[in-house]
Amino acid sequence: MSQALYRKFRPHLWGEVVGQEHVVQTLQNAIRSGRVGHAYLFAGPRGTGKTTSARLLAKAVNCLAEELNDRPCDHCDHCQAVNDGRFLDLIEIDAASNTSVDDVRDLREKINFAPSQGRFKVYIIDEVHMLSTAAFNALLKTLEEPPPHAIFILATTEVHKIPATVLSRCQRHEFRRIPLHLIVSLLKELAVKEEINVAEEAITLIARQATGSMRDAISLLDQLASSGIPITLEAAQTILGTAASQAVVELVDTILQRDPASGLVCIHRALDSGSDPRQFARQMVDYLRNLLLVRLGNADQVDATAEQRTAMTKQAQSFEKEHLLETLRLFNGAASEVRSGWQPGLPLELALAHAIGRREELTAAPEKNQPVIAPPAVTAPRPTQPANESFTAKTPAPAAVPQASAEQARPAAQLGADEAPADNPPPGEGHPTPAGIRDNWAKIRAVVKRKQPMIEALLNSCKSVELREGVLQLSFGSPVLKAKMEKDDNLQIVSSAVKQVLGWDIPVACIDATNKGGQMQSNSDVDADGMVNAALNLGGKIVQKE
Ligand SMILES: Nc1ncnc2c1ncn2[C@@H]1O[C@H](COP(=O)(O)OP(=O)(O)OP(=O)(O)O)[C@@H](O)[C@H]1O
Ligand SMILES: [Mg+2]
Ligand SMILES: [Zn+2]
Repeated sequence: MSQALYRKFRPHLWGEVVGQEHVVQTLQNAIRSGRVGHAYLFAGPRGTGKTTSARLLAKAVNCLAEELNDRPCDHCDHCQAVNDGRFLDLIEIDAASNTSVDDVRDLREKINFAPSQGRFKVYIIDEVHMLSTAAFNALLKTLEEPPPHAIFILATTEVHKIPATVLSRCQRHEFRRIPLHLIVSLLKELAVKEEINVAEEAITLIARQATGSMRDAISLLDQLASSGIPITLEAAQTILGTAASQAVVELVDTILQRDPASGLVCIHRALDSGSDPRQFARQMVDYLRNLLLVRLGNADQVDATAEQRTAMTKQAQSFEKEHLLETLRLFNGAASEVRSGWQPGLPLELALAHAIGRREELTAAPEKNQPVIAPPAVTAPRPTQPANESFTAKTPAPAAVPQASAEQARPAAQLGADEAPADNPPPGEGHPTPAGIRDNWAKIRAVVKRKQPMIEALLNSCKSVELREGVLQLSFGSPVLKAKMEKDDNLQIVSSAVKQVLGWDIPVACIDATNKGGQMQSNSDVDADGMVNAALNLGGKIVQKE
């Protein structure tokens, strides 16, 4: 198998390291002035040049070039030996697989031997945050009094996991995410050198996808090039992003539809197929930001295909602005939350749960729990629906049509199969009553059937029909059926059938009998206001609790 492209193109000279000038400059100055420290800590995101710079430093301190300025020269025996991985005084330890205290003790014993080839023995300890506490303590002793011929370079992506005692003994250098334009130009250079046929837009897409990691960028290019066909933007989109970005679009849909179960499935599917949780959260943030731009009328600033733009516009319009902002904030929080070990997907899941929870609070959206109210057939006073009041069969709404007020104290009519219809009231007379509906329901359906058989079939699937606060409520056990009923002017047709049979002008509405949001479950173990409870109420399950 050929060598991975990112290994092949590891910078051999300081000048080839991009985007980390602040670090490179300091290290070069140290070399020039002959004042190299004994312990360094290179911290920063993955694939940004930590190991690369550590090796350059190891090369530079052992380089045989006369001029300090020229070190590393990349030509002398020592430089060549480091490049080939056969320089005896460069010891690279992967802390992820050598975490024990014995490993560090072993290191401490060996460190006292003088270098065999060069001036300095350089220890590069990669992923140093993986060391056990005992191993850190052992390492600390070495860092306190290193032999003059030893240089330690610790590298980590998770600097917050390094004990302060270790940090305080190291010269710390922060590696940054590499800016997009620098990744783009390096990828272009590589494409030319490697004779990879790749479209400019595809390079930008790859670079963007890498979110500041040069290794990821090079790997992605490598992956695409391996197919051997020219890399067009479309090809790149298909192979790279679309799987992940499709998940992002779907997740936004589940938020808009207040469907936490599907949202969780969506997140898990993305993570199971290899998306990094933080990366996925970042993609969500990017996407939501684009929706915000579209929502604010700046769609031209959004970098997307025409097709994507259409989908975005649709979603952007379905979002309440306040809710969109809140969702953006929530996923931004998830993106910056650092959790690698325990439940890496949890920040995403909580962001989802809260985003859906916020939607319930902020909107009186018609999609699910709120009934769509069909206007009555002829103008008639209509109940005003309070914005935040969930309109369910069990919650009496404070405002109601005047003529319905008499009914408020009485139980609603439930049309069960076992209830026998009573005598018909004279059409057009009296107030709307549950009994009137119940007794004439068969007639009403017959009228509907004549107009639209499909709507009558839907009425047949109703779990219950109730007259509440002057509104005829149809409850459906399936969101799909409910949505069908709410389509077009179906409710209007039912409303006019009621008018035709009974002479009443009453609005008709659908409610969701599967309503999960209405009935909050509680778990005695969890804080009622806490995030876990919020997640539970939205259909989450406790997998493991700390
Ligand atoms: N700043 C950079 N300039 C040029 N190439 C880079 C840079 N950073 C990374 N690369 C490319 O990515 C590859 C991997 O980089 P490196 O091993 O130095 O990353 P790292 O920061 O140590 O990552 P990790 O934290 O995952 O170990 C290099 O071989 C090189 O091809
Ligand atoms: Mg590394
Ligand atoms: Zn050299």
